[in-house]
Amino acid sequence: MKMNVEIKEGLEGIIACKTSISRVDIEDGKAVLEYRGYNIHDLARYSTYEETAYLLLFGELPTKKELKAFEEELKDLRDLPAQIIGLLTHLPPFTHPMVVLRTAISYLGSMDKEKHFMDYEHSIQKAKSLIAKIPTIIAYFHRIRTGQNLVHPNPDLGHAENFLYMLKGEVPDRIEARALDVDLILHADHELNASTFAARIAASTLADMYACVVAATGTLMGPLHGGAAQKVIEMLREIAVPWRAEEYVLKKLERKERIMGFGHRIYRNVMDPRTIELRNLAKKLAKMKDSKWFEIAEEVAKAVYKHKGLLPNVDFYSACVYACLGIPDDLFIPIFAMGRIAGWTAHIIEQYVNNRLIRPRALYIGEKGKKYIPLRERG
Ligand code: CMC
Repeated sequence: MKMNVEIKEGLEGIIACKTSISRVDIEDGKAVLEYRGYNIHDLARYSTYEETAYLLLFGELPTKKELKAFEEELKDLRDLPAQIIGLLTHLPPFTHPMVVLRTAISYLGSMDKEKHFMDYEHSIQKAKSLIAKIPTIIAYFHRIRTGQNLVHPNPDLGHAENFLYMLKGEVPDRIEARALDVDLILHADHELNASTFAARIAASTLADMYACVVAATGTLMGPLHGGAAQKVIEMLREIAVPWRAEEYVLKKLERKERIMGFGHRIYRNVMDPRTIELRNLAKKLAKMKDSKWFEIAEEVAKAVYKHKGLLPNVDFYSACVYACLGIPDDLFIPIFAMGRIAGWTAHIIEQYVNNRLIRPRALYIGEKGKKYIPLRERG
């Protein structure tokens, strides 16, 4: 059989589907990221996570009335069934919270009698439920593993604010809540990133939405994707003081090791627009909290650029933001998922609506036509 043998490693530059959810482009030497046609900088300045999630799911900005109704629906869906709380209690406390999240989402799927209904209305309902419940799963597991009482969702609080409240047991101040809100907006979607592609591949087989989100969650966890955020804070802790940053970077590069939070498949020589926003947030929070992370991060960024020419990506300064918010290191990736769930579900629905099985080919490079020798003759 003849095959087209041009292979793009890592599918670099391959257009695998059409989407009208988000657009990443380089225009006049600058990176542009838009959700449904709206620039990420405007969304970070003026929108809320709830409004952005609505935009991603429905394709248009909501009216005041629509947004209020959407926010109320999310609030009503926040709490978890007793079985899920039971699961969170039974999982070993050392389980990585991303594994917990993946498992809890799968369990939620097992409880949804309508999980196989893939029409638009049912899919939107499942998306809302997942957007609402993921923060509760993360916060409840953290409270359980640290032996603290559960803090139930507070309907007076917005999405990001309520998450910090459930996690820490105190209503956060306005600046902290807004910082997380903006962070979630910035993480809400990013075209065909690896986890979204995993979700779309699963959706293309007509797997149910929970199965698709489990595929995405597993994919996000890897250190070359969302897992980088946790690795960034581990690196900053190891460096500990700004003046050791350059030496640390040089040693890593000498050993040909990757520096987490740097490099991007699309933003090669241009700054990721999300990084610009997150750097501003990290700077503001570090000043407010008298935190050293931003200063160390800046020295790392200078050294990586000087010695390897790489720019920081979305995971780099978001690690500083989370650290300044007092979020435990292993919750960094789950918070990425908490933002990205809006994009994942929007992409799953887009795939269902105009589906064709995603099934590429591989070029076989192994041996061919070998003679099978029965075990008794192989010695
Ligand atoms: N540290 C050191 N060298 C790097 C890094 C890095 N973080 N990233 C890329 N390079 C080098 C790589 O070694 C190669 O160099 P050379 O040409 O000398 O061999 C060159 O840059 C091109 O790298 P690549 O592996 O071909 O790039 P890619 O598009 O396949 O990989 C990436 C993109 C994000 C996986 C990679 O940059 C990386 O491993 N970064 C660190 C992990 C990370 O921060 N991931 C988060 C990605 S952004 C948000 C997200 O998806 O969550």
